Amino acid sequence: MAREQDHYTKRALQEGYPARSVYKLEEIQNRFGIIGKGARVLDIGASPGSFSMYALKAAGAGSVVAVDLKNEAPPLPGNRFTFLQGDAFSEPVISMIREHGPYHCVLSDAAPSTTGNRTVDTARSFNLARQAISLACGVLVPSGNIVVKVFQSGEEKELLDALKTSFTSARMVKPKASRKESFEVFLVATGYRGPHRDH
Ligand SMILES: C[S@@+](CC[C@H](N)C(=O)[O-])C[C@H]1O[C@@H](n2cnc3c(N)ncnc32)[C@H](O)[C@@H]1O
Repeated sequence: MAREQDHYTKRALQEGYPARSVYKLEEIQNRFGIIGKGARVLDIGASPGSFSMYALKAAGAGSVVAVDLKNEAPPLPGNRFTFLQGDAFSEPVISMIREHGPYHCVLSDAAPSTTGNRTVDTARSFNLARQAISLACGVLVPSGNIVVKVFQSGEEKELLDALKTSFTSARMVKPKASRKESFEVFLVATGYRGPHRDH
């Protein structure tokens, strides 16, 4: 197990990504093709920036808007990459996100600072995922896609069911690059049906 983890960390270093998490997104992209060429992508909880770097490559001539509480962004070309620092779910940041939209794909790898108390951590993660889905449904183009991380507690099924209503297809994915001991999963939904639905 340790050898496998080292493999992803080493590979990220060799390939110039700041975090091994990039291989979770790579697997999701390879399976579901969520980022099309020319796509405008919103990356919520983006620091240190591996998802953004990968998304920018996958989007070809497209662009990425990245948001994080922390001010850690990779050096990506400014004409195709925008970094916004702040709480992605605060009104001023939502306005800036909207100004750059709409988006073909929304990614959320946002995670709370963990306390070690699983009940607290999963509740905070659930709340972030719920807010990410709600934000996405206001800024996605019809037929757009979403990938949202959530810590498993059993309640994530509620989010999956909401996605099944708003998107043509939705499923829960545990990427190989997720640490075995991690209780994170990704909700991957494709084909947004458009706004005006309850979440
Ligand atoms: C696991 S890291 C993301 C790693 C990133 N996807 C990458 O590939 O480099 C989770 C991030 O979520 C951010 N985050 C948590 N809550 C947030 C919020 N409300 N708004 C913006 N970012 C948030 C944290 O600051 C942290 O940097």
